[in-house]
Amino acid sequence: MADVMLHKFDAVVIGSGLAGLRAALELSRRYNTACISKVFPTRSHSGAAQGGIAASLGNLDDDHWEYHMFDTVKGSDYLGDQDAIEILVREAPDVVYDLEHLGVPFSRTSNGRIAQRMFGGHTLNHGEKPALRACYSMDYTGHVLLHTLYEQCIKHHTRFFSEFQALALIIEDDICKGCVAWDIHSGGLHIFHSRVLVMGTGGYGRAYKITSNAHANTGDGLGLVMQQGLPLQDMEFVQFHPTGLWKQGILVTEGARGEGAYIKNRHGERFMSKYTPKLMELAPRDMVSRSIQQEIDEGNGIDGLDYVHLDLTHIPKATIIERLPQIHDLAFNFAGVDCFTQPIPIQPTAHYSMGGIPVDNDCHVVKNAKKVTIQGLYAAGECSCVSVHGANRLGTNSLLDAVLFGRRAGRSALADLSSIEWNDLPDDPRRFAQAEVDWILNNRGDQRVAYIKHDLQESMTKRCGVFRTAKDLTDQLTFVRELQARFKNIKIDDKGMIFNTDLMEAIELGHLLKFAELIVAGALGREESRGAHYRKDFPKRDDANWLKHTLAWRKPEGGVEFDWRPVVITKYEPKERVY
Ligand code: FUM
Repeated sequence: MADVMLHKFDAVVIGSGLAGLRAALELSRRYNTACISKVFPTRSHSGAAQGGIAASLGNLDDDHWEYHMFDTVKGSDYLGDQDAIEILVREAPDVVYDLEHLGVPFSRTSNGRIAQRMFGGHTLNHGEKPALRACYSMDYTGHVLLHTLYEQCIKHHTRFFSEFQALALIIEDDICKGCVAWDIHSGGLHIFHSRVLVMGTGGYGRAYKITSNAHANTGDGLGLVMQQGLPLQDMEFVQFHPTGLWKQGILVTEGARGEGAYIKNRHGERFMSKYTPKLMELAPRDMVSRSIQQEIDEGNGIDGLDYVHLDLTHIPKATIIERLPQIHDLAFNFAGVDCFTQPIPIQPTAHYSMGGIPVDNDCHVVKNAKKVTIQGLYAAGECSCVSVHGANRLGTNSLLDAVLFGRRAGRSALADLSSIEWNDLPDDPRRFAQAEVDWILNNRGDQRVAYIKHDLQESMTKRCGVFRTAKDLTDQLTFVRELQARFKNIKIDDKGMIFNTDLMEAIELGHLLKFAELIVAGALGREESRGAHYRKDFPKRDDANWLKHTLAWRKPEGGVEFDWRPVVITKYEPKERVY
């Protein structure tokens, strides 16, 4: 193995999407800060976010943070923690104005204010009518946010380590002391010794076949935390975005429906009138995805196939050009469809993980239901679970979550830095990472990473998707464990350490297989339907037994251990969700 390099930074951030960059910016203003990312920062998946970032600015209507709070709680199917949601919605306007002042080029209203559009589940006055709450920059919102924050980090001297894959956290006696990472480009192992470490490693859509997520979204941060014997929270709640481009899964923004697009089945019927007659296509995602899947399952897909139509043909061409140019290009380039005159073929696509690394409201990673924290370790954005999204996230609340809790993680780490001293590293901090790399490079099995990954993705989409049953989930749990056994028997061809994508994909697959078990086991255990988790065999929400968060540990000897913690309810008692 190549030489080991040792770096010492007060703060290390893993991940360079919006959460990671926003945390890094906050920390870099005061302390020497490193940001490690397996892709170049501006290629992070946050850049694929299209439609907007939620904030009750009220630029075009009479919006208020309380309406935003009510919608987020109701959208979460009452599983979101209401103290955390209140932080999210109250701080949202400040976060958006802060972004504006940092240089984000938001689209504008005719009088020069930040433009706002409609998005699913966002309403005025507790469900009365759709709210104009999503602040946007055409349909490139994530892209412009990402570039602005990257520029700001450069300005504040964040030290970037791009194309570095984090391999292990260094945690001893509940104190995080840094991490070990592999320099993908040049080949060495690097030890990052730190006083605080923030994880902003994003989601894991690549556990599924049809997904809107980038290839890099393999949930590595979740795997790193699990390696340390720490739990993940609410992993059974996987969001399926209603409008992924057919077969490809590529995101077709909900902003299209915010601008008036319809969803139609093979009969040309706007079938959402049967499911959510008040909000129609602008109902929350869990409901719209289920409705689409049901139409498809009942043979109402276009030509009886597994897609329906997103129809923009009645929207003025000038509106599409001004507000949805990316959608036009994606539909044209990837589906051969001209959306000015033709409907876009779409199907639900794995999009977002509501679950993740459990954290308190100040982003400290916690190790159990009593919220005991790990000193110096923080998480924010999609890899974390605060939980502000509960069982179902509303569109545009993820960019908000990432930037807001990224900033909050940075501030919380900044505050802690005044009291956290340097802790000595263990004797050989790279030992765990090295053992894993050596094992992957030298294992002489007969199984190929690509085939195992393919089988995982296909089976997760089939058996742990929009609709779930005990039979499918039981089969899937067995299957995931078979895949884990096959993984022990892998072989890769490239034995080097420089740009070894064989090695990288094997590392990623190791993570995918570990947390996929928690997704499936959690889904099997939760015998109710709530938000994005829909059990055909338990179609009702069951507050008496399941109004609680799941904490899940993968046991070293195999199997999953569960614990639960109560949902924080401050303002809104659970009610039936009608839209
Ligand atoms: O539809 C979209 O533009 C996605 C937004 C989101 O996931 O928040």
